[in-house]
Amino acid sequence: MSESIPIYRAEVLDHVEVAPEHFVMTLDAPEIAREARPGQFVMVRSLGTWDPLLPRAFSVYHADAEGGCIDIMYRQVGRGTGRLRLNEPGVHVQLWGPLGKPFQLADVEQVVLVGGGVGVPPIVFYAEYLDRLLAPVKVVALIGASTETFLVGIDHLQRANATVRVATDDGTAGHHGYVTQLLPEYLEDTPTAVYACGPMPMLAAVARITEAQGVPAELALEAPMACGVGACLGCTVPRREGGYARVCTDGPVFRPEEIAW
Ligand code: FES
Repeated sequence: MSESIPIYRAEVLDHVEVAPEHFVMTLDAPEIAREARPGQFVMVRSLGTWDPLLPRAFSVYHADAEGGCIDIMYRQVGRGTGRLRLNEPGVHVQLWGPLGKPFQLADVEQVVLVGGGVGVPPIVFYAEYLDRLLAPVKVVALIGASTETFLVGIDHLQRANATVRVATDDGTAGHHGYVTQLLPEYLEDTPTAVYACGPMPMLAAVARITEAQGVPAELALEAPMACGVGACLGCTVPRREGGYARVCTDGPVFRPEEIAW
């Protein structure tokens, strides 16, 4: 691991279930809270165990520079996140970051944020960041989930003055279908840039739509990450021009034309 990246022992300040299987962990991390930008991620590893050995990557969900803390959100699906869930307030975890390239704000009048599943955290962070900056852009957030109870971050997006629309696979809330089906209507007239995070099929659809319309876009990829700093090559994705990109250091934010979807 690069020596220039400090590893912190961060106290868990809060750890709550915000939706079925979805948890938000608040960590005491003043340096990261100050430096983190939307799209960047942190690596977290539970202390006092080698099971599982590897850390996990999580996008920053909120960064409170004044309060000196960050939030991450995760869905408890396997052993790694199951172990993470056991970290109650007061215990410490290993933490390093912020890592990776953040979203870059384009010179546009409208920003459309697209988030699916556990890809919502950087979308929420970006909406809050733009709101805090008083960025002179209209912000629309399109959020998708398999079902209504898995829709997360909506209240935060509304508080950040984003116009929110939702889509669910089973039709229990909002549009019945894929969240990307909501996207084309926002790309017609107003100069717009699209920023997205979610599962690869969703990102591939965003790439297809924005490239066809000639609309600038940035897509934050998710990949299994063992180191987060470019050393293990466990996070590579194929580039359209040939070769491979490391999601952790070349991304996680890419332009659509960079990736062989
Ligand atoms: Fe190790 Fe990207 S996570 S190279």
